[in-house]
This record gives sequence, C-alpha cells and structure tokens, in this order.
Amino acid sequence: MNKKLGLLREKREKAFEGGGAVRIESQHKKGKLTARERLHFLMDDGSFQEIGMLVAHRSTDFGMEKEKYPGDGVITGYGTINGRLTYVFSQDFTVFGGSLSETHAEKICKIMDLAIKNGAPVIGLNDSGGARIQEGVVSLGGYADIFYRNTMASGVVPQISAIMGPCAGGAVYSPAITDFILMVENTSYMFVTGPNVVKTVTHEVVTSEELGGATTHATKSGVTHFACANEIAAIQNIKDLLSYMPQNCEGRAPVLPYETQNELRPELNTLLPDIASTPYDIREIMDHVIDAGSFLEVHKDFAENIVVGFARLAGRSIGIVANQPAFLAGVLDIHSSTKAARFVRFCDSFNIPLLVFEDVPGFLPGTDQEWNAIITNGAKLLYAFCEATVPRITVITRKAYGGAYDVMNSKHIGADMNFAWPSAEIAVMGAKGAAEIIFKREISTAEDKEAKWKEMEQLYSETFANPYRAAERGFIDEVIEPAETRIKLIHAFKMLENKVVNNPRKKHGNIPL
Ligand code: HXC
Repeated sequence: MNKKLGLLREKREKAFEGGGAVRIESQHKKGKLTARERLHFLMDDGSFQEIGMLVAHRSTDFGMEKEKYPGDGVITGYGTINGRLTYVFSQDFTVFGGSLSETHAEKICKIMDLAIKNGAPVIGLNDSGGARIQEGVVSLGGYADIFYRNTMASGVVPQISAIMGPCAGGAVYSPAITDFILMVENTSYMFVTGPNVVKTVTHEVVTSEELGGATTHATKSGVTHFACANEIAAIQNIKDLLSYMPQNCEGRAPVLPYETQNELRPELNTLLPDIASTPYDIREIMDHVIDAGSFLEVHKDFAENIVVGFARLAGRSIGIVANQPAFLAGVLDIHSSTKAARFVRFCDSFNIPLLVFEDVPGFLPGTDQEWNAIITNGAKLLYAFCEATVPRITVITRKAYGGAYDVMNSKHIGADMNFAWPSAEIAVMGAKGAAEIIFKREISTAEDKEAKWKEMEQLYSETFANPYRAAERGFIDEVIEPAETRIKLIHAFKMLENKVVNNPRKKHGNIPL
C-alpha cells in the first residue's frame, strides 16, 4: 500500500507543479497569479475539491505524446464562497499557455453539467492562448461544447467570467454568453482578432491594450462589466457580486439581517435642484434610499447616462436601474438601452426585484442614433421590462417624457408600484417644445410672439408638468414626499414578496436583437 500511496502522492505533486517553476516565475513576473493561487484567494479556506486532476491530453501530433501535464492546463472543481456551493474552473497559463485542448474542454464541461444539475453558480478564471494549436479541430469542438453549455446554463445558474490574461479569437464568446465579465487592468485582453490581423486587414495600428484591454472594454464597448485594478480586486469583486444573487433560478438571494430604524430620510426633500434643467447625480439620491454602502455598480464607466447595479433594501437584494441626469441629461440612447436591458433580464432570470429611478427627457435624437438602430435597441429595454415578472417598482423623481415614460418601467408594462415625487413631470414632451407645436397659430399671430410662447409654455407646464394628471388616472399609485421614499419602498417590496405572474406559455420570445 505504501508504494501505491507513494505513486498517488507523486502524481498529485506533479499536478501541483503545473508547467514548472520557470513558467510559474514568468507568470509572476507578468504580475499575474497562478491558477492555483487564484483559487486559493477565491474559495473558502480548505473548501476546494478538485475534479480531474490527473486528466491528460490525448494528442499525438507534433510529439505531443511526450509532453503531458496532469490536469492539462485547467483546474476544475467545486467548493464554497462565503459558505455557498460554487463550481469553478481556473486556466493554467503555465501549461501550453492555458490553451484549450479536447480534454481541457471536457473538464470544463463536466463541472458545468454538475452546476446545472445541482443548481449552483459557475465561475471561470480565464487565462488562455486560445485553441490548442497542436490539436486542430477537436479543440474547436471543445470550445463549441462549452458555448452550448453556457447557453443551456444561461438563466439557470449565474455564470461569471474573470479574464486574467489573454482571451482571443472565438474563445471570447464563452465569457460573452455568461452573465458578468470582469477584466484585470493591464494584464488581460479580449479581442476576436489581435493587433497583427487588424493591421493587415484595416491598416490600423493599435496595441493589445488599446484594442481589447480592460479600460477599452469597460468604457468603449461595454464587453466587460467590471475593470479591476488587479487580480485580488477582481476576486473580491466576484465574491461581492455573488452575495447579491441566488444559487439558481429557483432560489432567492441571501437576506442580510436588518433591524428596522427610522426610515424617513428628510435630506431627500432638499437634494433636487430647483431648476428642472439642472443636473444632479442620481447616485446621491440612491445613497439616501438604499442600505448604507450597499450599492455595487455594474458597467460603471459605460453608457453613464444610465446607472445599473445591485443594492440592498432592509437587507434584501434588489437591482437598480436609474436614469442619470448628471450625464447627457439622462437621455436614453443605444448603449444605455442595451446596458439596462441586459441587467433587467439578469435580475428577472434570478428573482432579484427591480427598482427604477426615473428622470428621463426622452430618447436621443439624431442620425447617428437612428442609423445605428435606436429603434431596435431601445425596444430591447422595453421588451426586457415587459417580460420581467419579478417585483417591479418605479420612483419618478423628475422628468418622465414621451416614449421613455412608457419604457422606464411604467405601470402599463407591468410595474407593480409607481411612485412620483411632487417634482415629477409626466408628459408627452417638455413644455417649451409642446407649446411651439400645439399653440403654433396663437404664437405666430401674436403681437409679441416671444411673450405668447412663454405664456403658452407656462400653460402647458401647469397642466402637465406635474405628477397629478397621472395620479388621477392611477398610472401613479402615490405621490410621495422624497423623504418617504425609503420607507415606502421597504413596505412595497415586502408587500410584493410573494408575487406570482405567469406570462403566456411559449417556446421563447423573440427579443429585438
Ligand atoms: C498551444 C500555446 C498556445 C496555443 C500559447 N501556447 N498559445 N500552445 N496552443 N494556442 C504556449 C506557447 O507555445 C508557450 O509554450 C506558452 O504557451 C506561453 O506562450 P508565450 O507565447 O511564450 O507567452 P506570451 O509571450 O505571454 O504570449 C501569450 C500569447 C501567445 C499572446 C497568448 O502565446 C499567442 O499569441 N498564442 C497563440 C494565440 C492564438 O493564436 N491562439 C489561437 C486563437 S484561435 P512554452 O512551452 O514555450 O511555455 C482560437 C480559436 C478558438 O482560439 C475558436 C473557438 C470557436
């Protein structure tokens, strides 16, 4: 037995060495952790159970049969994060550059299958040179096997991808299907084709970082939801993110202990600027409504005219979608619509109630928006809200104009409770533009046209630039003092806790993609 135990220990030891000391040193020199070090920081102490440590590749081309590393470049298994079951794979760049072989893919698929059957999140720590070049098509098949499972798992269990090194070619599509992507600044990149191919095809000269680094994807493309300063920050971010989510689509997010306090927030009565066109930061309003320090912003630096993220209200997890008057006056455009739509769909998939703060002047006009399909993209947000069956509440702080009024979680598309502050303006459009159109004749025939316009603007404003017409109709359930917002929301979400809505049976809807 001793001999046999010795053999097992030897094999395990070899697996722990990965691609060897020299390659590990090179990984560290790049400012990167190894695959095992990342798992050490991610999982609860002693909880990680490895699956497939001794798996080896089956390739025999190019002398590959002589070069084998137990585990074949990816560590897979399960364990707990803050006490909750989580499946994880961590690619080992020290073994063939973390490249994906047939067996490497099989290992990832195995834990994904287990995650779907057992209803727990999957975390992927990606650090890979892409398809194992020596294996050819079997490697491509392996990728497709993963894409298929990513899609099958979508909406069943949360999937999070951390990009901690290269991620290029078709490999980018697995993270893209998952729910959240995190990238590490300066050491990770994602692109479909790298700088060399770009130069050949489009004659653009661009660095990897500019083309597909964390900052690029966090600000320009929106591909990544989070850009993290380093790997430890990324790992902490994953843990924070998970804390707002349930284990699967049948579950509910963990509730933190909360003792009721005096929930009135008098400072909210003074935060809104007196002039309706003056910007303010919606995050400041949110801070006074949600549990202190509980906001985890998603897509912080992308499409900043809308703010989305997770928070807690009296200890319970909620998803927030808020127009941001401090950026482009909070207008809805292509990027903000798709950003918010994806977030709404995530929350709805995983039973996380939605809170909307609305202050929106409408959709952004112009050829750029029209030619790039603001119609189709704006419809994504509309569709996402219409379809969502989780508890949904809207607070209109100021403007709710035009189609954007309908889109931003209005009562008509299924919101459960709609509150408005006395400062709310719920109308087809702003008073100035409205007066110009409907009082055109009066204005054009008046002696003092400017004065007449002002008078008519005032009339329209008094008639519609308030929440009371909508409240008379029941489109607004209650006009509240801003100071009451938190307490009203706590009561309303509690009241909606057991909400059940069954949309019509169908195979699946056809969201305007
Ligand atoms: C096999 C690979 C590999 C790969 C890297 N290595 N990529 N082995 N298949 N795809 C190996 C290297 O031979 C080297 O082995 C070790 O990993 C580290 O690589 P280096 O080049 O020394 O590291 P670095 O300088 O940091 O460069 C990393 C890199 C580069 C930028 C990722 O290795 C690279 O460009 N690799 C090829 C990337 C690529 O074209 N992949 C295919 C993409 S297409 P040793 O033994 O020296 O340590 C694709 C299709 C997917 O992925 C389609 C899905 C649908």
